[in-house]
Amino acid sequence: MNHSPTDPDTLPQRTLEGWPDWSVLVVDDEQGMLNFLVKTLAPRCHFVMSASSAEEGAQWLAGHHADLIILDISLPGTSGVAWLKELREQGFTGEVILITAFADLETAIEALRAGASDFILKPFRVPQILNAVKQCHERTRLRRENFVLKRAVTREARRSTSLVGASSAIQDLRQSIERVAAVSSTVLLQGESGTGKELVARELHARSVRASGPFVPVNCAAVSPELIESELFGHAKGAFTGATRARDGLFHYAQGGTLFLDEIAELPLSIQATLLRAIEDHQIRPVGSQQLVPLKLRVIAATNRQLSEEVAAGRFRQDLFFRLRVVDLQLPPLREHKADIPALVGHFIEQMAPALGVEPLSISDEEMAFLLQYDWPGNVRELRNLIERSLILGAINVSALYPAQTGGQKDIAGLPTDLQTLEKRHILSVLESVQGDKTRAAQLLGVSRRTLERRVAEWGFSATGR
Ligand SMILES: Nc1ncnc2c1ncn2[C@@H]1O[C@H](COP(=O)(O)OP(=O)(O)OP(=O)(O)O)[C@@H](O)[C@H]1O
Ligand SMILES: [Mg+2]
Repeated sequence: MNHSPTDPDTLPQRTLEGWPDWSVLVVDDEQGMLNFLVKTLAPRCHFVMSASSAEEGAQWLAGHHADLIILDISLPGTSGVAWLKELREQGFTGEVILITAFADLETAIEALRAGASDFILKPFRVPQILNAVKQCHERTRLRRENFVLKRAVTREARRSTSLVGASSAIQDLRQSIERVAAVSSTVLLQGESGTGKELVARELHARSVRASGPFVPVNCAAVSPELIESELFGHAKGAFTGATRARDGLFHYAQGGTLFLDEIAELPLSIQATLLRAIEDHQIRPVGSQQLVPLKLRVIAATNRQLSEEVAAGRFRQDLFFRLRVVDLQLPPLREHKADIPALVGHFIEQMAPALGVEPLSISDEEMAFLLQYDWPGNVRELRNLIERSLILGAINVSALYPAQTGGQKDIAGLPTDLQTLEKRHILSVLESVQGDKTRAAQLLGVSRRTLERRVAEWGFSATGR
């Protein structure tokens, strides 16, 4: 669309500022406002669509993509704020600028809560709207860049699959890995949370003859018991209500590689017999299917419980336990190989500082002494999380650590003295930030949910909740 050279604000400049990658939807019931916005934005954007109600806008959005919506608040039918709420609930992640003639603080706050990026008052002039669009565009660019970077970081973290540490515990583990990696037998990894079970599983895979095949991790605790059989083994068309077509299971996806059954202790008893048969016969039968599928993969299972205790308690089949533990690797808790702490700290700083885009951290002798006497209930993951947090903050930050058994009032230079208070405050703020979701909070804190619950219960709070 051509813009008018009579309006001084839209006079063509030598280089017209613009966002040629952006599609914009403008929604206003005032035709004059629509014309003005289209005239201003069309020469600067890839595409501008106009609509005169939320309903019309929604109809267009059903079949098209918008990076930005400029939305009038008072519309006939659904109001701008109400539609915005709906849009966000439906997962619209683009930018939204709300415009209104009636300025009141409450509306502005409600709009921002509903997920608006910006809020402009009518009447406004061209530079104002251009500036708002510019900021939205910049925000989107940063968000995307961040997404790509984060993925690169995770990939990087995955690539470095080697175990750090020279203690005898880690050296023994390395030797076992070496011995076990080449054979295709099933492996059982046992160890507390955060001791490196997944890392070892990936290393076993990377050193196996199927290293070029897929590594497929499955969290047995995360799949619902009703679905887990078909998730693992796939199903035939019509196997159950809703199975409108055949579907492959995770075993299929892991063909030629490694299937990593994490948290195996959580596998429902009913599936355990089927899993045992699959491992023994090297074949599976998808749910409702007549056909057997031969398996060409290795199964690695992991648990942070002692499976023998689960067997004794009747929660885990003994025959499956015996089958899994043909090769049984015990991962040591970090408190049993504290000698590796300096090397691990150095490794995490080196690994994460460039990825986070921060300066590496230097650690004083006092700080290291503290790290060495602490007992690390969350094991290496807790240490890793501490280093990550500290890199971001630019200083070793122990506020989220549990007081070591040697006493919670450790007074060391430069560190907060009352760890118990700091710890409590930190845990509560993390819990608050995830609306009391203990599973999430435990993940963020780098400890098991059980540890977190025990902690909260110690303060006399109720340990119920999600
Ligand atoms: N010896 C080690 N050297 C380097 N990194 C390690 C080592 N042990 C653990 N890590 C790192 O610590 C973190 C936690 O390890 P991992 O996820 O493998 O633990 P896990 O035993 O699977 O825990 P969970 O039972 O909670 O799932 C990972 O980032 C992992 O890379
Ligand atoms: Mg794990």
